[in-house]
Amino acid sequence: MDNFNNLIDMDDYTVSQWNEIISLAEKIKANPMEYSEKCRGKIMATLFYEPSTRTQMSFQAAMIRLGGNIIGFDNPNNSSVAKGESLKDTVKIVSSYSDILVMRHSQEGSAKAAALCADCHIINAGDGGHLHPTQTLTDLLTLKTELGRLDNLTVGLCGDLKYGRTTHSLVKALSSFPNNRFVLISTPSLALPSYIKDVIRAHGSNFTEVDTIDETIKDLDMLYMTRIQRERFASSEEYERQKDVYCLTKAKMQYARPDMIVMHPLPRVNEIEVAVDDDPRAAYFRQANNGMYVRMALILFTLTEKPKIRPLLIGEIHNNVCCTNPKCVTQTEKYLPHSFINRGDILICEYCDERILL
Ligand code: NCD
Repeated sequence: MDNFNNLIDMDDYTVSQWNEIISLAEKIKANPMEYSEKCRGKIMATLFYEPSTRTQMSFQAAMIRLGGNIIGFDNPNNSSVAKGESLKDTVKIVSSYSDILVMRHSQEGSAKAAALCADCHIINAGDGGHLHPTQTLTDLLTLKTELGRLDNLTVGLCGDLKYGRTTHSLVKALSSFPNNRFVLISTPSLALPSYIKDVIRAHGSNFTEVDTIDETIKDLDMLYMTRIQRERFASSEEYERQKDVYCLTKAKMQYARPDMIVMHPLPRVNEIEVAVDDDPRAAYFRQANNGMYVRMALILFTLTEKPKIRPLLIGEIHNNVCCTNPKCVTQTEKYLPHSFINRGDILICEYCDERILL
């Protein structure tokens, strides 16, 4: 049973709760000092099994600006993980020291696995190439601040839509608002996973898939550039083939509307020319700054909202079936129940969303 305010996926909260968090972030941004004692005496742990600059530091800065304290690691090799400790045991212990635990991990479904054994609120700061809900809250606040709305948007997403967890959570969230349209700009091998496309369809939103930025930039309200995720490729040859396919240049920006904005979760490698930074439509550094305020709001919301008691796993347990995703957390954390949503001809892994044909 989940009796904590976990944020594993955007659908852990309702659209009106997302709006509440965003409005709170706006209030905090306008008057941060008013919130400087709100988390006095509280402890937030940040367990980062994967590299991070913005997500980790904005969470830490957020808790410190709320008057709370932080513990954690940014390199699991400096913790008992290096001695072979399981995710379960690490989370069980650290969550008993903390009020809130923020975790980034390379395995898909790891945040849900952590929530199953934690004694405090769990926030998913990125689970492999799967989801990244707090980046999405950052992105929603940025869209609201820059464009004044979260609906009636034509959004271009460019780059690594297959492994880019930020795009998965963002598309899921924006599909929940009316009249948003997606233009998916990627090579066929880095296309958006079909389960995310299913979410777009289920909400009745539209998407098109194109190969180049040039053919679509003039139609967009927002262009979301992403890094090709080197660390997720099975082979370095495949990464080398894909790495510099897309680059947003100053020349291309001439064809964009004067009110279009460019967003990027960062880090940038080569996909946005540095010359674009001086264009007022480049919103990515403002976006990163918004991340701290939205995380302040999320921490406050998590600690003050009354938790809804509900099961963390709602599917069927099939311990004789193994998830076919080699990056699923169930591959190494053997104690986890193999829980699947049964859709008749397929089983959907409840940790990583992998579809398994029966
Ligand atoms: C992203 C991530 O880690 O998924 N960065 C971030 O959190 N701001 C994107 C990336 O690493 O390319």
